[in-house]
Amino acid sequence: MKVALITAVLLSSIGLANAANVDKGQALVEKANCASCHGAGLNAPILPAYPKLAGQYPDYLYYALRAYQVGNTNAQYGRNNAVMSSQVQAFTNADLQDMAAYIASLPGNFVIKK
Ligand code: HEC
Repeated sequence: MKVALITAVLLSSIGLANAANVDKGQALVEKANCASCHGAGLNAPILPAYPKLAGQYPDYLYYALRAYQVGNTNAQYGRNNAVMSSQVQAFTNADLQDMAAYIASLPGNFVIKK
């Protein structure tokens, strides 16, 4: 019980220390003009092969962005896509987390079907 409590406190303090900054993420996404492919609000891609991003889970977005950065250097983890790899090289880990938090905060129209 005590251990669980201490763990929870530790985890939450780590979470706060690394809290993603949505405003910074917005500035980065706008500067990089991600909407030129992913469309208005990152929810209206210009081609069907380009994914919608708005409202996606932030963990998933961050993982995807990191995977494009890693690319072929890690076959277990990397995503090998020339277009997106070139988009993400310049960003730090914290930048990607901020961008993921911003994109996740946007209203999207993903549909979950059961
Ligand atoms: C030149 C067009 C283009 C631009 C600009 C662009 N993207 Fe992409 N993006 C793509 C394409 C194409 C894919 C699908 C790649 C694939 O098949 O893996 C993609 C995929 C993604 C994915 C993975 C989505 C998923 O569901 O797995 C994320 C996240 C993403 N882009 C974020 C961004 C961000 C953030 C920016 C701005 C820094 C950006 N993109 C700029 C074309 C673009």
